[in-house]
Amino acid sequence: MQTLPQPDLPGTGRGVTETPNSAPAPALAARAAALALLEAALARRGGLDEALSSGRYLRLSPQDRGFARALVMATLRHLGPIDRALDSRLKRDPPAPARGLMRLGLAQAFWLDTPVFAAVDTSVALAPKPLRGLVNAVLRGLLRGAPLSEDPEALAPAWLYARWRAAFGDEDAQAIAAQIALEPATDLSLREPGDAAMAGPLEAEALPAGSLRTRLRGDVAGWPGFSEGRWWVQDVAAALPARLTGARAGQEVLDVCAAPGGKTLQLAAAGARVTALDRSAARLRRLEAGLARTGLSAEVIAADALTWPDPRRFDAVLLDAPCSATGTFRRHPDVLWNARPGDIAALAQIQAAMLVAAATRVKAGGRLIYSVCSLEPEEGEAQARDFLAGHGDFAIDAISPGEGGAPEASLAPEGWLRILPHHAGGGLDGFFIARFKRMSPS
Ligand SMILES: C[S@@+](CC[C@H](N)C(=O)[O-])C[C@H]1O[C@@H](n2cnc3c(N)ncnc32)[C@H](O)[C@@H]1O
Repeated sequence: MQTLPQPDLPGTGRGVTETPNSAPAPALAARAAALALLEAALARRGGLDEALSSGRYLRLSPQDRGFARALVMATLRHLGPIDRALDSRLKRDPPAPARGLMRLGLAQAFWLDTPVFAAVDTSVALAPKPLRGLVNAVLRGLLRGAPLSEDPEALAPAWLYARWRAAFGDEDAQAIAAQIALEPATDLSLREPGDAAMAGPLEAEALPAGSLRTRLRGDVAGWPGFSEGRWWVQDVAAALPARLTGARAGQEVLDVCAAPGGKTLQLAAAGARVTALDRSAARLRRLEAGLARTGLSAEVIAADALTWPDPRRFDAVLLDAPCSATGTFRRHPDVLWNARPGDIAALAQIQAAMLVAAATRVKAGGRLIYSVCSLEPEEGEAQARDFLAGHGDFAIDAISPGEGGAPEASLAPEGWLRILPHHAGGGLDGFFIARFKRMSPS
């Protein structure tokens, strides 16, 4: 069992004192914004991203914006242990927004080095009057008590953890969950493979497959090389599906679920003639902005992949399908708390239909790559097996050890990749990637 560092309690011993007279006025605007972000993050999938682009958030000073964002991310990364601790003190669920304010108070004291008096006082100040006593008492009680336990098992929602244990076993489930608490670095894909000149200015380490990994923070648009389009943000695991198409100059490649476009950029940078299809016009605008910034080109089509009437067939088809995205929890910890078992089943059905549709677009001898940023076997192994069972004209095109920089630990005996976040030393998005080959033209 891991334990957390004790927050630095002011006053004598480990007791919580009142706010000292010399304390700066609490920055309530940033905490209030963090509360709004947290509520949006937990209300529904995509809620956090929307709240981060809302006027309310963008009107904050850059400093308050940075603090609010860091606070909500720390809270989401430790939500499991935080809620366990709160539940141990609360007889029943308190009225909103008390739980949110208590969550933020604990996250500040334990993970953001906020002095305890400031963490407590700002949460109390933001609570409606009738809830202030409760928020104050619970926070002070917990911050005086034993450290919060941060068992990996407690970091994930119990039902998801149980699924991972059933799918991958105890050891891997623990190692996956331990990654939830870690703040991720940022991985970048380079427009010119091996653009070694970028590593220094970006303070980046070169990863085996040619991506860069940096711990720089803040707005990526201000980082060296961004405006010249020399790189784009892309997790090193997310860079594998496009690489495994083997796309090269002269080939025609269809990117079926293309937006916001990281994989389209890779395919275009490899010299292929790319058709980038997505049904979301809004997300395609981000893809087009990426193409414009990097000086790369692709044919961009807004259409539903299931009904797109175009009769063309392609040398390679990449289906990076919509999924539960549970593998992206390092940058999007909110996905863990918004996922529902029913969503996984529904998304698995959509993926099956999309695989069938994508297969019709592959030339004889061509490749079909199916990828999802999910850790759930229904969105992965089960899809690959069902697809092969229903498509005698396709066979698995086994990925070879280390191909494209894939972690060796991720290669399954079936020839596909089940990438777990702790593979290759950790810091990866969870992915499933299978490659099929069309054997006959039917
Ligand atoms: C996992 S994201 C793709 C990410 C993208 N490949 C990238 O690397 O940036 C899934 C995408 O599928 C798109 N999508 C979902 N259903 C679709 C459909 N029926 N037809 C076309 N696109 C669809 C969504 O709009 C979303 O952009």
